[in-house]
Amino acid sequence: MVADEGRRVHRVPRDGRVPVLGGDGRRIARQLRSGVRRGLHVDRHLRPPRAGRARRRAVRRTGAPAGALVHEFGRHLLRRFTVGFPGFFTAARDTFGFLGLVEGYVHTEVRKLYEDAELPTFECSPVADGRMDMVYKSSRGFADLAHGLIEATAEHYGDAIAVDVEDLSGGARTHVRFRLRKLQPPA
Ligand code: HEM
Repeated sequence: MVADEGRRVHRVPRDGRVPVLGGDGRRIARQLRSGVRRGLHVDRHLRPPRAGRARRRAVRRTGAPAGALVHEFGRHLLRRFTVGFPGFFTAARDTFGFLGLVEGYVHTEVRKLYEDAELPTFECSPVADGRMDMVYKSSRGFADLAHGLIEATAEHYGDAIAVDVEDLSGGARTHVRFRLRKLQPPA
């Protein structure tokens, strides 16, 4: 059992084993738990009321549009994740590989540790012709965060990727298609 700053208690297997992951699972579970202890865990930032207040305050202070700030925060968060949870990133060779693991692996492991985590769903198309679509759905409307996370993922793997964003929820950012396209390096 691991206490998250005294607020919540999460069940974590004593030996840290996450069966689906084999040997590496132990390391990832350890990283996630220590990330929580160091306050790395995103839910401190993303709980809707808190996120709403922080977002409004930042918008007032900087004058930047809320979407741009959330997007920037997504980029920052991803860079923190690469340091805090490297095991997730070594599980994939490139951006498309990693993004394809978010729904069925990364967030699935997160859910095991935090039963009440509020997670979005992502549907990824198969990769074809250097392209992949990733469809985000969540009542929390954090598509801009996902956009920032996606961009910084590409930077992490050193991939040049164009991201087209199509809001399928009339601007609510709750249902968004990201069309990802690998850019050819200049000849
Ligand atoms: C190592 C990588 C990652 C970790 C450890 C992680 C972990 C988490 C956790 C714990 C939450 C829940 C926050 C809460 O309960 O309030 C969350 C939410 C979220 N995650 Fe991830 N995540 C990772 C990668 C990604 C990536 C690459 C994307 C985008 C492609 C993504 C998109 C999101 C979004 C948009 C939310 C906000 C909640 C929502 O929209 O409903 N995550 N993530």
